[in-house]
Amino acid sequence: KQILIINGPNLNLLGKREPGIYGNRSFVDYLQTIEAMFPDVQLRYFQSNHEGELLDKIHELGFDVDGIVINAGAYTHTSIAIADALSAVTAPAVEVHISNVHARESFRHHSYLSAKCQGVIVGLGLTGYELAIRYLLNYQPPAIT
Ligand code: DQA
Repeated sequence: KQILIINGPNLNLLGKREPGIYGNRSFVDYLQTIEAMFPDVQLRYFQSNHEGELLDKIHELGFDVDGIVINAGAYTHTSIAIADALSAVTAPAVEVHISNVHARESFRHHSYLSAKCQGVIVGLGLTGYELAIRYLLNYQPPAIT
C-alpha cells in the first residue's frame, strides 16, 4: 500500500520552530520511525512552503495512493484551493495538526480542509501522523449499492 504524507508551510522547521508548541523532533527524523513501523507500506513524503506545489502533489498522487495524511499548516485556515484538490482526487484523506489548534488563537479554529477529509486528528503531536496512517491502511470505501 502507498500513503502520501503532505506537510505544508513552515513544517520543514519542525524541531527548530517554536519547540514549546511543536516539539524538538524534526519530521525527517520522525519519518524514519514511521517507516520502520510500517515496513510494508510505501510512504511518500512531500513538504512545501508553496500552496501551488501542494496542489500539484495532490493532483499527481491523489488518484493512485491508498490515502493522504495532510498537515497543510497555516493553509488549513485559508486555502479553498487545497480543499478543492482534496475533493478532486479519489484517495481518502486525514487532516493532522501537531498542536491542539482549538486551544490556540481563534483563527486556527476553522479549517477549509476538514469537510473534505474522513477525519481530523489534532493536538496529539507527531503521533497523529501514525494514527492517521493506521486508519487509512484499514479504510474501506463505502460500498456502492
Ligand atoms: C499546525 C497548526 C496551524 O495552525 C499552524 O499554522 C501550523 C501547524 C499544527 O500542526 O499544529 O503551521 O498545522
